[in-house]
Amino acid sequence: MRREKAAILMGFARNDKEKTSMPTQDEMKQATARAALDHVPAGIIGVGTGSTANFFIDALAGIKGRIDGAVASSVATAERLKRHGIPVLDLNEVGEMAVYVDGADEITRHMAMIKGGGGALTREKIVAACARRFVCIADESKLVDVLGKFPLPVEVIPMARSYVARQLVKLGGNPVLRTGFTTDNGNVILDVHGLNILDPVALETEINQLVGVVTVGLFARRSADIFLMGTRDGVQTLTR
Ligand code: 5RP
Repeated sequence: MRREKAAILMGFARNDKEKTSMPTQDEMKQATARAALDHVPAGIIGVGTGSTANFFIDALAGIKGRIDGAVASSVATAERLKRHGIPVLDLNEVGEMAVYVDGADEITRHMAMIKGGGGALTREKIVAACARRFVCIADESKLVDVLGKFPLPVEVIPMARSYVARQLVKLGGNPVLRTGFTTDNGNVILDVHGLNILDPVALETEINQLVGVVTVGLFARRSADIFLMGTRDGVQTLTR
């Protein structure tokens, strides 16, 4: 009974059948997405891409009167925002935003992240760069000591694919072309396996400088400011 009450207090929506079981990964994602609403100020916000960001968009719909609109980090996010009646604004018309809310594929306690599992890394990085605060929303499975178990996505101009892949091998990685996938910007993605990223800022800088690379999915130079981590015991807030 006490546990049931705790689950309600922590914001997990449980039906009768699920009352005694642990929250699922989706429930943890939903809880962190709902917690992010407390970080949404009046005005315009940036919105990320992925399943956790989708839960955030669905929650945002409930308070849409509080904001003037959102800048989307992908076509998919723009469509979902519009379906909820949330105005989607052009970043060039907006300039700076107070907050950007997005998920991550991996995040460390120092708030460096790997992003781009959904392929939206370039627009995500651009929108994040225009936000004063990055609020990362993810379940506890995304917290790691060292980045790199999740293959690092690198968006590449198609004609540079082989050249960039050879350079990434020299850096110790095993790049694999994401087949059947084109980014919103018309480019391809190399997913780099086998990296043990001990210095994310240095590696981000090095890969950024390769000719033909559009964006590397390391978010270390512009890391998260707050991590709302969905856990089995509720949402924990980690800060830098
Ligand atoms: C998309 C991303 C996502 O934030 C990342 O892949 C996490 O997605 P999910 O919330 O579905 O686990 O970077 O490009």
